[in-house]
Amino acid sequence: MSDALFRAAREAMAKAHAPYSRFPVGAALLTDDGRIFAGANIEIASFPEGWCAETTALGHYVMAGGGRIAEIAVVAKRMARITPCGGCRQRLAEFAGPDAKLHLCDETGVVETVTLGEMLPMGFAGEVLK
Ligand code: THU
Repeated sequence: MSDALFRAAREAMAKAHAPYSRFPVGAALLTDDGRIFAGANIEIASFPEGWCAETTALGHYVMAGGGRIAEIAVVAKRMARITPCGGCRQRLAEFAGPDAKLHLCDETGVVETVTLGEMLPMGFAGEVLK
């Protein structure tokens, strides 16, 4: 994984608004044409209404015009190897193929790299809805 992608995820984590869980998370997406979009988790007092770092990053990516996602990095302060929640796996799969690389990181760097297909086997695909 490129250093820039990891740094973007870690810098995003520093901007997390997580006063309730105190569990800051950062995520960064790399498009195959080299653009990086990052995000942090954002919590609110009505707990279930907050959202994940991956979701914030996807919002930036969609607003910038999208494109093919080649790699994803996720980092958490308090977990040795964070894995995206179920909802975020599905959100990522909306915009990234099963072969997209998913780098699971701690604060120092990549702990493990898997593919999105490995993280979301037999995921629901929206093709039939189009
Ligand atoms: N969280 C993320 O931002 N990404 C994940 O992949 C897992 C969980 C956030 C949601 C919530 O703000 C906090 O971590 C604790 O669940």
